[in-house]
Amino acid sequence: MPTGESLEQGFIRVCEAAAVAAAQTMGYGDSQRSDQVAVEAMRHELGRLPMRGRIVIGEGERDKAPMLFIGEELGAFVGQDEGLEVDIAVDPLEGTNLCATGADGAIAVLAASEKGGLLHAPDIYMEKIVVGPSARDAAIHLDAPVAENLRNIADAFQREISDLTIVVLERERHEELIRDIRDTGARILLIQDGDLSAGIAAAVRGTGVHAVMGTGGAPEGVLTAAAMRCLGGEIYARLTPLDDEQRQRLVDLEIDDVDRLYRRRDLAPGDKLLFCCTGVTNGQLLKGVRFFGGGHRSSTLFMSLNRKIIRFVDSISRDETDTPVLFK
Ligand code: FBP
Repeated sequence: MPTGESLEQGFIRVCEAAAVAAAQTMGYGDSQRSDQVAVEAMRHELGRLPMRGRIVIGEGERDKAPMLFIGEELGAFVGQDEGLEVDIAVDPLEGTNLCATGADGAIAVLAASEKGGLLHAPDIYMEKIVVGPSARDAAIHLDAPVAENLRNIADAFQREISDLTIVVLERERHEELIRDIRDTGARILLIQDGDLSAGIAAAVRGTGVHAVMGTGGAPEGVLTAAAMRCLGGEIYARLTPLDDEQRQRLVDLEIDDVDRLYRRRDLAPGDKLLFCCTGVTNGQLLKGVRFFGGGHRSSTLFMSLNRKIIRFVDSISRDETDTPVLFK
């Protein structure tokens, strides 16, 4: 790790490195390759940080993922008594297909906390409703009719349901949900991938997104919860195992109550949460990585819960110190 750099700055650099690596593969139609280079870059940079880090949400089980597997220990102080113990949840490339096609919304993501501050969620599906601070205290329930939830969200925003925009992943499993939302008159933004960035957008006023609804990845759900803790939003979630193998996975993780309803504090209970994401392709909040001869520029959102910081970081990295810098 470069001298004089704090752990927080280090996490920003980790996300930037993953985003830059992935962005170099943008539009090549190879989502696996995009993911792989992001994983390698993130792992390399995490290994240099002054900590004893442990991956709690990563690329999967050790037998399936050679790098950033769940339980992998990373950091310059691994095996020593020195350095902070940090639990780390990563999604080196959220929206692999978006990057592979050059579509908007791909990001590199990392959340960190003190030990035990992030749920060890299995890589299965999770039903979710995500709202920002304005609707955080609205009466929302995963089992309530869609119309009732949307009425309560609209009331919280003091507007009509028809003034709401709800983000939904465009998937066959969401046909009924989409029909129900349309019946209420709310507008829908169908996305191909990336319910995590959509959740972040829902928690920021001015993005035009009022809620995210539907089923996506559980790891993304935990990362969303960490972001909601920092942004003051809320997530309502429930794990949805599809078969016996996935149910067994829950048992192995000592998750006994399959029907448990989770909120942000259940998924990301840490007091010292950090959340960081860098744009790979352009998005609502972050620009994608831009390359200019001899360097690149990236946009990162960094948040610290206990330090009450939300920081947008615009980084320029140059191969030579005299490479000209564009102001825009
Ligand atoms: P990847 O980055 O792993 O491709 O995931 C993108 C994503 O769209 C997530 O944002 C979402 O939670 C999940 O996939 C949905 O899964 P599926 O594509 O199986 O519906």
